[in-house]
Amino acid sequence: MKIFIDSADVKEIRELASWGIIDGVTTNPSLVAKTGREITECVTEICQIVDGPISVEVISTDAVGMVKEAEEWAKVNPKNITIKIPMCIEGLKAVKILTENEIKTNVTLIFSPNQALLAAKAGATFISPFVGRLDDISHFGMEIVNDVVQIYNNYGFATEIIVASVRNPLHVVEAARMGAHISTVPFGVLKQMVGHPLTDAGIKKFFDDYQKIPKK
Ligand code: G3P
Repeated sequence: MKIFIDSADVKEIRELASWGIIDGVTTNPSLVAKTGREITECVTEICQIVDGPISVEVISTDAVGMVKEAEEWAKVNPKNITIKIPMCIEGLKAVKILTENEIKTNVTLIFSPNQALLAAKAGATFISPFVGRLDDISHFGMEIVNDVVQIYNNYGFATEIIVASVRNPLHVVEAARMGAHISTVPFGVLKQMVGHPLTDAGIKKFFDDYQKIPKK
């Protein structure tokens, strides 16, 4: 499974890149707003750090506007920029056009298997089911991931599933067990994934015992 970081904070992205485990980045307007930075400058810097899909979201509500925004973004980094398109009828139209123009798309705000099916039919490169936001309203967010993995496998869709709105390490474990292609994970959750109390205790014991070994 590929791991993306769900962040627009270049400090976090740079740190994760140094771990050697980052395959891509997803941003959204809320994440960019948190940085306090101008958006083009911020996304351009992210493109310099990570060589992989980098999602940036359009804000137009009509397909023509979405395509225009996407074409501008694609100039920043034609290979890696991926256009996040909100799931809606105008969004589907935009995905069809962008796919024909070989611009990568990530259909976002997916909350049902039917939305995922339609996005794949339109030719989306990626879709992003928001599992945490479903959990928030007492639906099992990961259930939709399981359904979509099965649906895409049944028909051989090439669209990749990005498990998004990840809130804890178990979301990532479940995503991997279900065979999702990608999880996009906030930096805090990535740090939680590294740690285990028995690992910490083991490192300490080996260090302490090493001190007891007679030295020349
Ligand atoms: O990638 C989508 C993600 O940023 C949404 O996460 O925590 O705002 O639901 P959250």
